[in-house]
Amino acid sequence: MSLLNKIDSIQKDFEAELSAVTKNPSDLKDLYNKYLGRKGLVPNLFPELSKVQPDEKPNVGQKINFLRDYIEQAFDKLDLQKTKNKNTSNIDLTLPGNHFFEGAIHPITKVLNDISDIFKSIGFSVYSGNEVEDEFYNFEALNIPKYHPARDMQDTYYLNNEKLLRTHTSASQIHFMENNPPPVKIISPGRVYRNEDISVRSYCLFHQIEGLYVDKNVSFSDLKGVMEYFSKKYFGQDVKVRFRPSYFPFTEPSAEMDIYWGLESESDYRITKGTGWLEILGCGMVDPEVFKSVKYSNSVSGYAFGIGIERIAMLKYGITDIRLLYEGDIRFLRQF
Ligand code: PHE
Repeated sequence: MSLLNKIDSIQKDFEAELSAVTKNPSDLKDLYNKYLGRKGLVPNLFPELSKVQPDEKPNVGQKINFLRDYIEQAFDKLDLQKTKNKNTSNIDLTLPGNHFFEGAIHPITKVLNDISDIFKSIGFSVYSGNEVEDEFYNFEALNIPKYHPARDMQDTYYLNNEKLLRTHTSASQIHFMENNPPPVKIISPGRVYRNEDISVRSYCLFHQIEGLYVDKNVSFSDLKGVMEYFSKKYFGQDVKVRFRPSYFPFTEPSAEMDIYWGLESESDYRITKGTGWLEILGCGMVDPEVFKSVKYSNSVSGYAFGIGIERIAMLKYGITDIRLLYEGDIRFLRQF
């Protein structure tokens, strides 16, 4: 019988035996070994190639390869890979695997994203302001004229006579209103800088999310409602909040909002100064002077708020020293 005929007949025999074989794993394994095992019918065809005419060799060799692949695939289709590999596999499943170090989201980024998502879901769009500002945007347009004592509240880093690092994200309000007519419904998250003594509680830079809503007939109760909605979404339905009257030159009336965090751990004591309450944002109705500086008509009203991110992150994740957030220590960051 020529080698080509032999190849054909092995294939036919295999097909017949395959359709007759039981699903019993040991029968299947026998069938596999009969055809593809080390001394199986197919591997035994290869030595016979030496007897074939040289110009026929590539063709016949290819036929044998096809047959081998055909039988392999028939077993694969039956999902018999396991049967086939039994005892022949040299993969040691007990060896430890390779360890992949994955990146982690920085806790500040996480808080910024989670809070932004809440405001986005109720129709606020995100506007990114600039970190380098001048006195007009950071102060004057926000009703903080030169020599106003409120400038002392925010010790400012000046880059030169004109430029400074913004001390709050409120500067974004002015840029946005200058370039867009009302109604306005934005948040503006980002970094701010203040020349403060560095300690466990304060650092020379931190993050805020500014919010600004301007339309006809916006009232203080709209502001309260949105702040309460945000607090419940972020801290849970049972969160307790309180508003305290406050002062900001660019809002009137102004308030600060505290949330009740509790006094369970040492870090709760430290961060809430032993009261259990934590101030997380300043807010108020946009002062008419601010509308004047961006040339808005006085038929609109609006509210603004500025949320401090670091304190929320510290409480939420039990971080007792604010400096950890800026050191980039991988042992700290991997925990998030
Ligand atoms: N910009 C204020 C601060 O940094 C917070 C604030 C924003 C207050 C908007 C009122 C309205 O302290």
